[in-house]
Amino acid sequence: MNSSGQSLPGKRILVTGGAGFIGSHLCDDLMKRGNEILCVDNFFTGSKRNILHLLDNPCFEVVRHDICFPLYVEVDEIYNLACPASPVHYQFDPVQTTKTSVSGSINMLGLAKRLKIRILQASTSEVYGDPAVHPQPESYWGNVNPLGLRACYDEGKRCAETLFFDYHRQLGLDIKVVRIFNTYGPRMHPDDGRVVSNFIVQALKGEDITIYGDGGQTRSFCFVDDIVNGMIRMMDTPKGFTGPVNLGNPEECSIRELAERIMEMTGSSSKIVHKSLPEDDPRQRRPDISLAQTRLNWSPTIDLDTGLARTIDYFESCISKPSKG
Ligand SMILES: NC(=O)c1ccc[n+]([C@@H]2O[C@H](COP(=O)([O-])OP(=O)(O)OC[C@H]3O[C@@H](n4cnc5c(N)ncnc54)[C@H](O)[C@@H]3O)[C@@H](O)[C@H]2O)c1
Repeated sequence: MNSSGQSLPGKRILVTGGAGFIGSHLCDDLMKRGNEILCVDNFFTGSKRNILHLLDNPCFEVVRHDICFPLYVEVDEIYNLACPASPVHYQFDPVQTTKTSVSGSINMLGLAKRLKIRILQASTSEVYGDPAVHPQPESYWGNVNPLGLRACYDEGKRCAETLFFDYHRQLGLDIKVVRIFNTYGPRMHPDDGRVVSNFIVQALKGEDITIYGDGGQTRSFCFVDDIVNGMIRMMDTPKGFTGPVNLGNPEECSIRELAERIMEMTGSSSKIVHKSLPEDDPRQRRPDISLAQTRLNWSPTIDLDTGLARTIDYFESCISKPSKG
């Protein structure tokens, strides 16, 4: 039964961080599959604009709530995505970032324990830090500086994974952990300093395109629809398969090459300028997705040009119609 007393084919699913970039696409996909969504978000980096199209739908509900405080609701499954994800935002209030990962996870795990339901954690490739192993398999323990500016996010997410696995071992909780690598697509925050959004906005506005370092460092970028599909596949795996499972695109692209592609696709006349690299910026990061391929039958399906074209369309519409949300 849903909250209006009607029978629904799907489940009632809690998505924390559901008004954010990835979370709002996850809400869209889960609703298309016939589920009812409870989106919980404190709107720190999320925006009503991302979920505006869902607000009139009786199967969608949103609650403004900080997951650092306990939450008492009745649901069948939890996807825990709440956490600022870009350095600009997670370094704005580092203590709150760690609290969101640690206290927030404890609260969501406590809720899952009380309801005896399955819970999925959106972890990150940042748990590998500046990796000494390429590409990164899930068995790699990582190389994280616990004292640096990125530690509030990296160590917070590592501790969240520890909590998930201890709730599983100690209390038998049905957990799933995915480690998400660089994701891009429509609804990325235009000012969050992430490379794809930065380059597109700079190119569309005809501003200088800023490359940190020489641009030879590589990243692998995965389109958001693929990541959401992988998360849902992971949630639907049999009980006992916990992960962690890497989700990302193994195709590497240098930052310089990315800037050049975006300039070409937007027909921009921007110039490339170089600035010094931020602290602890990894030189290279690429997922080993063998586990996702074998256990989830998942691989990315959307190539960089297609994904970039959709993302450029989105930013073009934002720049012509500025958001109030
Ligand atoms: N985007 C990526 O490339 C990427 C890569 C790896 C992991 N992830 C993970 O995926 C998740 C979603 O990332 P995103 O890119 O959509 O980021 P985002 O900032 O767009 O979304 C995070 C959402 O969580 C909300 N939030 C933050 N703190 C909260 C709190 N204490 N209580 C309730 N809501 C809170 C924000 O308002 C926002 O809506 C994050 O957990 C992030 O760590 C993202």
